[in-house]
This record gives sequence, C-alpha cells and structure tokens, in this order.
Amino acid sequence: MSAQKKLYLKTYGCQMNVYDSSRMVDILTPLGYSPTQQPDDADLIILNTCHIREKATEKVFSDLGRLRPHKQAREKRGQQTILAVAGCVAQAEGEEITRRAPYVDIVFGPQTYHQLPEMIAQVTRKQDKKGRGILNIDFPSEPKFDSLPESNIPQGVTAFLTIQEGCDKFCRFCCVPYTRGAEFSRPIAEITQEARHLVAQDAKEITLLGQNVNAYHGLAPDGSTEEWGLGQLMNHISAIEGLERIRYTTSHPRDVDDQLIASHGQNPKVMPYIHLPVQSGSDSILALMNRKHTSDDYRRIIEKFRIARPDIAFSSDFIVGYPGETEADFEDTLRLVSEIKFSQAYSFKYSPRPGTPAAALEDQVPEAIKRERLERLQILLNQQQQDFNNSLVGTQQKILLEKPGRLQGQLIGRTVYLQVVHIQAPKHRVGRIVDVTITHTCHNTLHGSLL
Ligand code: SAH
Ligand code: SF4
Ligand code: F3S
Repeated sequence: MSAQKKLYLKTYGCQMNVYDSSRMVDILTPLGYSPTQQPDDADLIILNTCHIREKATEKVFSDLGRLRPHKQAREKRGQQTILAVAGCVAQAEGEEITRRAPYVDIVFGPQTYHQLPEMIAQVTRKQDKKGRGILNIDFPSEPKFDSLPESNIPQGVTAFLTIQEGCDKFCRFCCVPYTRGAEFSRPIAEITQEARHLVAQDAKEITLLGQNVNAYHGLAPDGSTEEWGLGQLMNHISAIEGLERIRYTTSHPRDVDDQLIASHGQNPKVMPYIHLPVQSGSDSILALMNRKHTSDDYRRIIEKFRIARPDIAFSSDFIVGYPGETEADFEDTLRLVSEIKFSQAYSFKYSPRPGTPAAALEDQVPEAIKRERLERLQILLNQQQQDFNNSLVGTQQKILLEKPGRLQGQLIGRTVYLQVVHIQAPKHRVGRIVDVTITHTCHNTLHGSLL
C-alpha cells in the first residue's frame, strides 16, 4: 500500500456523474488516496464536470480559478498537487480547458477514467512542469466497465448502478451524444453481479442509470446472443434477496415498450414513479428538437402506465424558449402539464450548447421571454407538486429509512414516489421499510409518524 494521499473530488451534474465519481474513488483507493473535503491539502483534485447548460460549464472555469492558488501554495512548499478535470466539460471542451487553464494537469472524458492510474503516474513522473497537461478524451473501443474494480466503498441504503451509457438520439439542443458517445448497454450478468455486490453492502434500493436507460438492450445471462430490455433486466435482478426497491432514470418516451409498462404492473419491487422527460407540449417544437415523439404519443404512454399501475406518479424535464418557440407553443406545454399532473419536475431555459445544431439557429428566443415563460411554467409545476404532496397527508405510506436527520431522533426516508419524509424513529431502523402515516407537508418535505 502506498503512502496516504488526499483526494478532493467535486461532482457536478447528473447521477451518472455521481456514479462515475464513486467509481473513481474505487480506482484511487488502492493507490493510497483517501477523500478530503478541503482542496488546500489535496494531492489530487478532480472536478467531475457537467456540460448540459452554460451555467454548469462556467462554474467549472470559476472553480478552477479558485483552486489554482491552492496548487501554487503547495508547490511553493515543495508538494505536488495534481489538478484534473473530468466529465462532460472535459470531453466537450478539453482543448479549451488546456488553453484557458494551462495549469490543469489532466483532462479526461467520461469513457477514460479507468486509465486514471496511468495518467497520474505520467504526471507524477513529469519533471518539466511547463507545457500542456495530458488530454485523454478519445472514446476507447473497449468499454471502461471491463476494467473497473469492484466497489469497495458502500454507497449506503440507496445505490446507483450504471447499466447503459451514451445516446444516439441527438436531440438538437443536447450535448450528451457528443460528451458521452454512442449508446452502449452492459451485459445482464455483469449488472446482476454488481447489483448483488451492492445489496451485500446493505443497499436496499438500486437506481439503474443511463442517459437513455430504457433504450437498454443488454446481452442475456445465458451466454446466447439474445438481448434483454429494461423490463426483463428489472425482473431478473428483483430476484436478489434483500433488494427491496428498483428505480431507473432517465427514460425517453420513444423507448417505452410494453414489457417496461408491464413490469410496473407486475413487479412489486419496481417503484410506481417514473422520470419521463417530455421537454415541450408543442408538436412543432418537439419536431424541431428532433425528439421523434408527439405530445399525444406522450399522453398515450402516460395513460398506458396508469392503466398498468393506477397509483403511478410522473416527473419530467421541460425546456422553455427553444429557438422558434412561440407563445402558442409554450401554451401547449402548459396545457400538457395541466392535463397530466406531475408529482414533480425540472424545468430549464434553453441554453445554447456549442456544437449542437440548435445553437446555430437564428430564431433564438430573447432572454426576457425565456425567463417569463420559465416562471409561469414553474408556478404551475410547483402547484402540482404541492397538490401531490398534500394528497398523501393522512395516508399510510411505505418509507425506506435512509439516514439520520439533523434533529435528535429524526430519520430521513423516502416514499415510493421519492419524496423526502422526516420521521422520529430509532437509528437502528435505518435500512428498513416502515409503515408511516403522513401527518403534514412543509416545503416539499413530508412529515410522518411511525405506525
Ligand atoms: N437523457 C435525458 C436527459 C438528459 S439531460 C432525456 O432524454 O430526457 C437532462 C435535461 O437537461 C434534459 O431532459 C433537458 O430538459 C435539459 N437540457 C438538456 N440540454 C439542454 C439545453 N441545451 N438547455 C436547457 N436544458 C437542457
Ligand atoms: Fe440528450 Fe436527447 Fe439523448 Fe436525452 S435523448 S441525452 S435529451 S440527446
Ligand atoms: Fe451533465 Fe454529462 Fe450528466 S453533461 S447531465 S454530467 S451526462
């Protein structure tokens, strides 16, 4: 075992980045790195970045500016700090990072982090501190999953598991197909093994991750060339004893099939809650976005899920102010939201991403109009979230207790719909699913008492 070294790892963006960061820790632990919350005493700093909207990207450059003095101060004391930028900004703007921040030692994309040990060794050996850092953003032919170690740090009661990566959909606003590369599904056997490992480490809930998780089509476990979809995968891993809840995110309406819908109706471990982004309620905007579904397709899918599982709840993503969006288009979105009624949602102003087709369109919507539409949409979505939360007051819910809360004797858990619930309960019940009466709600948090 090498000498103890400190790792400061900051994660931006989606759950896939959270998963990747935890895998980076798995790779770095055997090299002697242990996590620190303080960048000033870190031997290795990694920013695992997100490129989805302009603000997310800018944050990385401002964080780099803030970290530079830490690195310089340590170097004055004769200590090396390796500064690395990972994730989707690294992939999309690698060259730009080495140009704007030449003091960054390593820039590597989401598909090359399994090569971290070699990259670190290369930087450590480098005597000449001048010159650009390492830029490692090729898409390797072999998926990184084959070379990742088993995770040695338990994720806890709720765990993430990446089953699918990349995207071939090319929605015209989105950087993901460029930053994460082509769609790839891990084989069923590999996923099952990782799921078993997570459950052995006390996970009770697993969230299956993918940029297009329901486009999943992985090799069947019987060694044949048959491929299974997400519904079959969930049915397969639900046989793991001790695994109580299965979730998945993020799905695309185009890839919802009957088997997936059926698994919600038939498999009690599959949670009755889906994050299913629609982006817009206007058919002309959906076509311009290259979403390849209409608003009525979306309505029909929701209806099918509701027939299979009447108590199911939906969440979604929305983009307002996509180039060419008129007031009438936006009102179509409001109408769709009013009809469907979401239990929660995320909504964003369209943000032009360099290199994506929509960024080059001429009819960009003025900022003031985007702001005003976002506000109107969020008022409606917040109201729906509150209504949904309030509808649970007085009901009994199954709550998975995840961790201690901030107050004495308080535990934090979640409903099947992923809402946070605060409960007074003894600490040893963390990891259990308990019956709780919801007593009241406050700022989107539910409060309940044990039955
Ligand atoms: N794969 C998922 C979403 C990935 S990105 C899907 O297909 O829905 C997460 C969300 O960020 C998207 O659903 C979208 O609402 C938002 N988003 C992506 N690109 C954006 C952009 N250029 N501007 C604003 N929001 C964007
Ligand atoms: Fe982006 Fe569309 Fe792919 Fe989702 S489906 S990751 S929004 S390109
Ligand atoms: Fe961001 Fe990349 Fe995820 S752009 S949302 S970190 S896939």
